[in-house]
Order: sequence, then C-alpha cells, then structure tokens
Amino acid sequence: MSDSKIESILHEERRFEPSAAFTANANVSGMEQYRQLCQQAEEDWQGFWGDCARREMDWDKPFSTVYDGSDAPHHKWFNDGELNISANCLDRHLSTRGDKTAIIFEDDAGTTELWSYRQLHEAVCRFANGLLAAGLQRGDRVIIYMPMRPQAVVAMQACARIGAVHSVVFGGFSAKSLEDRIQDAGAKMVITADESVRGGKAIALKATVDAALSACSHQVQTVVVYQRSGAPVAMQEGRDVYWHDFSDHQSTDCPPVALNAEAPLFILYTSGSTGKPKGILHTCGGYLLGSILSMRWVFDYQENDVYWCTADVGWITGHTYVCYGPLAVGATQVIFEGIPTYPHAGRFWEIIAKHKVTTFYTAPTAIRSLIKAGADLPKQHDLSSLRILGTVGEPINPEAWMWYHEVVGGRRCPIVDTWWQTETGSNVIAPLPGAITTKPGSCTLPLPGLFAAVVDEQGNDVGNGEGGYLVIKKPWPSQLRTIWGDDQRYCDTYYPANIAGGRFYVAGDSARCDEDGYFWIMGRIDDVLNVSGHRLGTMEIESALVANPKIAEAAVVGRPDELTGEAVVAFVVLKGERPTAENATALMTELRDWVGKEIGAIAKPKEIRFGDNLPKTRSGKIMRRLLRIIAAGEEITQDVSTLENPAILEQLKEKIG
Ligand code: WTA
Repeated sequence: MSDSKIESILHEERRFEPSAAFTANANVSGMEQYRQLCQQAEEDWQGFWGDCARREMDWDKPFSTVYDGSDAPHHKWFNDGELNISANCLDRHLSTRGDKTAIIFEDDAGTTELWSYRQLHEAVCRFANGLLAAGLQRGDRVIIYMPMRPQAVVAMQACARIGAVHSVVFGGFSAKSLEDRIQDAGAKMVITADESVRGGKAIALKATVDAALSACSHQVQTVVVYQRSGAPVAMQEGRDVYWHDFSDHQSTDCPPVALNAEAPLFILYTSGSTGKPKGILHTCGGYLLGSILSMRWVFDYQENDVYWCTADVGWITGHTYVCYGPLAVGATQVIFEGIPTYPHAGRFWEIIAKHKVTTFYTAPTAIRSLIKAGADLPKQHDLSSLRILGTVGEPINPEAWMWYHEVVGGRRCPIVDTWWQTETGSNVIAPLPGAITTKPGSCTLPLPGLFAAVVDEQGNDVGNGEGGYLVIKKPWPSQLRTIWGDDQRYCDTYYPANIAGGRFYVAGDSARCDEDGYFWIMGRIDDVLNVSGHRLGTMEIESALVANPKIAEAAVVGRPDELTGEAVVAFVVLKGERPTAENATALMTELRDWVGKEIGAIAKPKEIRFGDNLPKTRSGKIMRRLLRIIAAGEEITQDVSTLENPAILEQLKEKIG
C-alpha cells in the first residue's frame, strides 16, 4: 500500500450518521441494538446462530446441533437438520406472496417482463423435473453458462431443488476456462444458451460450450440450450436438447427434496495464487442463513422494497444477492440483461426510475465509469425511490463514494460498503444502515456474529492504524467448506500455519482499523489482482501467456488504475528477438487476444512490456516487487544489488510500440 493511500485514510474526517427517520424504521434500529446483537453472539455464539437459523429458515427436519468443529478447520453447521433451499426461496412464499412480483426482468433492448413467485416456482419445478428425467441425481454437478436472464436463476434453483450441485461459469470466460471447470467439477450436464446479447452485441455461448466439450476428456451427457436469440447453433444428436423441449412439457409439481444442511449447494470457481482456479464449495444451510441475515441487516430489507443487485450470476454477488438472498426473503428484484452504457450512459438511472428501485447494489468500478460517462446524468432521472445504495468488490475511493452519496442518493441514502468474498458466502464487514455511521472509503464494522480482526503473524491484534492480516477468528455459518477436489489447498490457504498458527480464517486481504474500530481494506496480500472488482490470479495469466509458442517467460503484476482499480501489466520475454517499435503493436494485440482466448476478455493485459530477461535474484526468483514499481511508473529506490541482472530494469522501463 502506498503512503498516499494511508494518508488519505488518516485524513478522511467526513462522517454520515443514519437519519432519525431511517433509523426509526430500520430492521436494526440504532447502535444500541447493533451492539446487543454483537453481544448476544459473543456471549452465546451457538445459541445466537441457532436462534437465527430457526427463525429465518423452514426446516424439514430440525437440527439438534448448531456447530460441530470436531474436524476443524472443517466446519459443520446445523448438521443433522434437513431443508431445501429452493423451497425456502419459493414454496414458502406461495401462500402469502404467490402473486407478488419476484423478478422484474429488463432485457438488453429495454423490454420488461414480470415474473410472480408463482410463475417462478412453476418454471423451476418444470425445469427440475427435466433434470430428474435426464437422470440427474443428488450430488451430480451441473455447469451453468448462461446470459443474465431469469432462466439462469431458474436453472440454479432447479438444481438446488433436486440436490444437484451447480457451478455457474461467467459468460465472459473462454472455452478453455469453461473446459477446465467442466473437467474439474466432473459435470454431467451443461446448461447454456445459443447466444447472449449485451449492449446490442451477440456473444456465442453454445459454440463456446461445443469447443470446450470437444477438448474435454470428461463425458458430459446432456447440454440444454436456451434459445435467447434464435441464432442457428449446431445440436449434437443424443446430447443436446433445447430448453423448451427439455422443460415445457414437464409437470409443475416437483416436491423439493429434504437435504442435509451440509449437503453441497454449489461450486464457484475463483482465482487464487496458483495457476489453477479454486472451486469454492458452499453448502445448503449455513450459506442460506448468511444470505438472509445480510438481506435483513445490511440491505435493511422491507416488504415493499424493489431490490437491484447489478452483479452477473457468474460471480458470488450474483449468487447471494440475485439468486438466493432476495428470493429467500420474498423480495421483488430487478434482473438486467444489458450493460450500463447501452443504448446510453444513463441506462442504470433510467432503470432505477422506471422500476422504482429502492435498494441499488453495484461495484465501485461501475460507479467510476458512470461518473466518467456523465456525472450529471443521474439528475435527468427521478431517483427519489432509492433508499439504500451498496458497493462491493473493491475499495471505493472517497471521491466516488461522495458522488454516489450526493448525485445518486441525493444525500438521503445510506451507503453500505460491503466487504466479503466468494469464500465468505455473504457480507462480513458492512454498515447496518440504521445503526452505523459511515465514513467514505471504510466498510465500517463486522456483522453480528462475525469476529473479524486485523492481526500480525502471531495472531495478535495490531494497534489502531497499523496494517495487518484480515482474519475472522471464529467460524460462521456461510463460510466455504472446502475447495472442490483439493482439501489440502483449502487448509493451507485459509488456515495457514504461518499466520496465528492456523487458528483463524485468513482472508488474503490486508486491512487496518481506525480509532473507532472501523475497517479500511488495503488490498490483497497474495498474487491476486482485483480488476473491476473481479479476481484474477497473476499466475493464471502467466501460465496462459507462456502457453503461447512465441513466449519464453512472463511475469504479470497489477498497477493502480483510475477506472478499474487495478490493471494487468505483463512483462514478457520472447523466444525470438525483442520486438521493435514497428512490430510491437501487432504482437501486443496478438498476445492480448491470446489471453482472451485462454481465460476470457477480463484477463487481457492492459499493457505488455518486452525484455530480454526478467529481473531475477541469484537463485532465479523473479522479483515481482520491482516489476510492480516499474509498472506503476515509479522510481526504484531500493537496493537492487541482490539482482542477478540489474541492467534489465532499464530495458523493462522502456515502452515499445
Ligand atoms: C475485495 C466479491 C474492499 C477483497 C464479493 C476481497 C473488497 C475480494 C470489498 C473478494 C470491499 C470485496 N472493499 N475490497 N467492500 N469487497 N473486496 O471473491 O480483496 O470476487 O478479498 O468476492 O474482493 O472478491 P470476490
């Protein structure tokens, strides 16, 4: 973390207290009530979580044990209880909210479609019966590679209904990434669409699935194809079936199966510090509880809210705050297929006004790009329905925070800056908007029952204002259970012996706490970049680069970027000659496209620098620290005498092309 950032944190003096009117109606009304909840969790941790789980969820068979840590760091919650997630999201609302709108869907072109809870329930039941008819059983894995449409939610909920384990792959990932995930998950089925349509452009999905499957040694039995655009696609006899043929004739009666609370619900792949993405495994009971409680606590969910989380279902935010949380509390939510800037840069504001959105949850990178696209645009729309604004995915800079507060929220709406991870399942550190005073740039305080802290290597709390490892000291229901197929990596990554002796969950972020105990996230401590709120492993991009026949060696680092938070910078050594100014541009385009093909467009390096070598220690280790300084355009001030080849630094500073 640079000194300037520490400075800005220390100088952030602005405070925004919840208004009396907001607090009066809030689910957690005032600091006193927040403290009471925290205290209950501290005094009787199991009792606290047990009460929440009994109160918030419908159980087919009640649990007798709240927490079982006999095999720590493997945690079991509500282990002998049984429930069904889809029943908790749909069936239990039918008698009270059957005709309530569950989903307001707006497609790329602006056409709106309303789905009531009853209609969504019927669609899920039909599709779940299709899954059963195709021979899918409990525990079988299903890859979902879909556009951002209600059908993606239907597919996920249908899997949950029959106990199949879904693994959603973001529609922007390449055939190669898709193939890796199909293979790693051992999926029996892939659910996809002919194309997705975003910003007026069609993106082939089925063709990508075909490419992934032809390279896959693993046998996928069924591919279900939803016809989004109607574009012609190749259908393989005996394997591929259209969504309507698969599901439309099925019965709308599909009893949800009672599943053990610890039965797997989904696998979601995320980048880590090795070349191979991690399949984060979440289970039914604890995960759902986290989704529901954060809807109530952080989003202060009220029956008449219109909730809109802009995340794609391919990311954890789209799992917890699109597919599960809002439905479990019986909310009306907006699902939007398109992009913020199409057909104009005011699209988000238009949607908020049109559907009277009350709760809007998006990423800092989207906020920054919308400021750039038109800081005055929100004023052209009636945003008076808004009452809460949220952000997630990366630290929000105070300037963007203030704009969000003033221009979008009309100074009336609390901002909930929510810190959490794919691994944590749901919000961990975030303001409860009717209780906690916010400070621009801080995610404020942990949720009740979440014992987040900043510690040193020994596990001792560091002093106020000092940086350290962000940890969570006690287990919590919605945390990941393991890494699919690699339990050792789970233990080593999240409970590493070298930090606090493996006693605490280690998030992989560094943070500091101020004098009020407020958390300020500083960034990752591992080789993971955060580009536009998306996690990218530097090793993953490096291995993609070196798979190119022209490349001998590559090192990837991040550099600060105004718009995307961080940007990918690649340092490349070619097998042949270093390029000249004449041929560098074409080569860069070729290599960027290569990374796009290997991983997906989000991983394409923003900048590529070429050298005859990389800066290495005498033992051959690449000094990424120095590369980060070069990438940021800063001067190297430290001693470089441990380098085998210090002269290479000058060459790498030079931009060609
Ligand atoms: C970062 C997204 C600062 C952090 C839900 C974390 C944040 C990683 C915030 C997880 C925030 C997430 N402030 N940083 N409010 N929220 N991060 O798994 O580095 O895609 O470890 O989950 O994003 O990213 P993931």
